[in-house]
Amino acid sequence: MTVQIAPSLLSADFANLERDIRIVEKGGADLLHLDVMDGHYVPNISFGIPVVKSIRPCTRLKFDTHLMLARPWEFIEPFKAAGSDSITVHAEVCEEPGSVLRQIRSLDMECGLCINPSTPVEVLFPYLEDLDLALIMSVEPGFGGQSFQPDVLPKVKALAQHCHDRGLSVPIQIDGGVGPDNAAACRLAGATILVAGSAVFGTADRAAAISAIRGADTIA
Ligand code: DX5
Ligand code: ZN
Repeated sequence: MTVQIAPSLLSADFANLERDIRIVEKGGADLLHLDVMDGHYVPNISFGIPVVKSIRPCTRLKFDTHLMLARPWEFIEPFKAAGSDSITVHAEVCEEPGSVLRQIRSLDMECGLCINPSTPVEVLFPYLEDLDLALIMSVEPGFGGQSFQPDVLPKVKALAQHCHDRGLSVPIQIDGGVGPDNAAACRLAGATILVAGSAVFGTADRAAAISAIRGADTIA
């Protein structure tokens, strides 16, 4: 499966979102990763529904919406109305992840389930048949620009193996500190969607950054 690159809007210039989105769309981004933070589940606030609504007309890129919210089920409909194409929620906040995933799909969006670095990968296993993507965090959620935690890679590997053993093809997304120096290791472990914020928006040439991440083939 070819790898997809999802620039995280969190690291874009918030005073020039349309400009930055068009640059990464032209530069080869496969989807746009929207990091929504509420200051409760994570110790940071990023952006919300009005921003998603405003940027929707700027691009045809799929809005891959990562809800780092304490009560994500309360915001599924408003994000759908604002233009989200997929919504990923954290397993850690959902008492019954299955019902939240069904809620997302009932609104004709793709659904994802996310786990933090310290959450065992087995938490995802009961939901894999109802998932359009599984997100494994390689940093503690809340901030861009953190260092990649390589010790999450065995979780990616274990998830990819488990999906293979069950004949499932759930795309595995990795998020946090991803860049050209670790992209090959992420791919080798089984990740097929790489989220990159500072590694893309933190550089002058975003197109070159996207292709460097996509084409990385050496394990640093
Ligand atoms: C962290 C976010 C990540 C982060 C990625 O809570 O979910 O998507 O913004 O940004 P970088 O690639 O800079 O770690
Ligand atoms: Zn994210």
